[in-house]
Amino acid sequence: MKFLFTLAGLAGLIQLVDNGAHCILVAPDAPSQTLAEAAPFPIGFAVSPASIKSNAPYRQTVIQEATSITADVAMKPSRISPQKGIYNVDVADQLIEFARSQKKRVHGHTLVWYIDTSPNWLKQIRDSTDLESTLQTYIQTVGTHFKGKVASWDVVNEAVDNNRGAIRKDSLNTVGKTLFNVGKILGDDYVARMFQYAHKADPNARLFYNDYGQETRPAKLSAIVNMANDFKRRGIPIHGLGLQMHISIDTPNEGIENAIRKSAETGLLIHISELDIAMNPGKKKDFAETPELLEKQYQKYKFVVSTYKKIVPASQQFGITLWGVDDGTSWIPGFCQCLDAALPFDANFGKKRAYQGFLDGLK
Ligand code: G3I
Repeated sequence: MKFLFTLAGLAGLIQLVDNGAHCILVAPDAPSQTLAEAAPFPIGFAVSPASIKSNAPYRQTVIQEATSITADVAMKPSRISPQKGIYNVDVADQLIEFARSQKKRVHGHTLVWYIDTSPNWLKQIRDSTDLESTLQTYIQTVGTHFKGKVASWDVVNEAVDNNRGAIRKDSLNTVGKTLFNVGKILGDDYVARMFQYAHKADPNARLFYNDYGQETRPAKLSAIVNMANDFKRRGIPIHGLGLQMHISIDTPNEGIENAIRKSAETGLLIHISELDIAMNPGKKKDFAETPELLEKQYQKYKFVVSTYKKIVPASQQFGITLWGVDDGTSWIPGFCQCLDAALPFDANFGKKRAYQGFLDGLK
């Protein structure tokens, strides 16, 4: 006779099997924890509302693995206000309803961003008084609409330039696209005023400054930290720093640790807000996923997550958000025009070594 029962004293992890002659101890696979279950802080994904609606495994992965969501584009100015005075909030509202029904936090992204997603009508404004009052009205309207529905906002995204550590004043980006030159028109201190407008619109929302590259660009990191400390001294309502953390398997660990440490020293909330780890930073045409590359990606996920957990005091841990759900819908291949697979889930929503790296980083 064969029978199987669990030994309650060992929390069901060890099973006794009677093989007819002897009892053998068998240790089955430990019950797998999701990222959300394993993490002592919120775990987020940047999501597309269309994919949430139409792609069942995508939706299921978000439901199981996340406690926080960020819209990848649906809450950007170009989507919310494609024309002056017109506010399209329906898609964002549906996403927020999904989040509410699944008890997920919503992080708003983003109120002001110099780059191409700023709507064309906004980019054409050259007069500083006009631009200031237009942005103030935009923030007031959008902040009020989403008041109580979002926990937080990236108020200004990517305002500091890459090398000088100063507020961006360029009108072309690296691929020659005309940008919304808000820094040049409104002057360096516009960032502070945007925070004041956002706070007025939604006094309970946690307000973040969000940027990328702090791990490899020391001047940029210092400028952001100095700006945050200056805001704190002046009573500008800033509550957190978002480190996007679009990195690769080759990004030096020292830089990652330094960026997290220096940011946390401000005492503000720290959000790793757009994490992904590219395996093909050189954009090789003949890129192929190998066990070695997947192992390096495992190690880097583990390092980022464990460093965040270790260095950022618990009271400042706003969470870690992955920029996308799966490799099949990640922004990276479209952006680099190359093959890559930077997320913990593959294109079939299978868990990669990177997923285990995230979990191991949480231990
Ligand atoms: O939805 C339209 C679709 O209807 C159309 O057919 C298609 C044709 O190009 O475009 C689709 O919109 C694209 C949208 O992503 C949704 O996929 C836009 O062209 C494209 O510009 C947009 O790119 C987004 C980009 O921000 C600009 O908004 C990326 O998905 C998004 O991942 C990226 O996110 C940024 C963060 O906001 C800030 N930090 C960097 C990060 C990565 O670039």
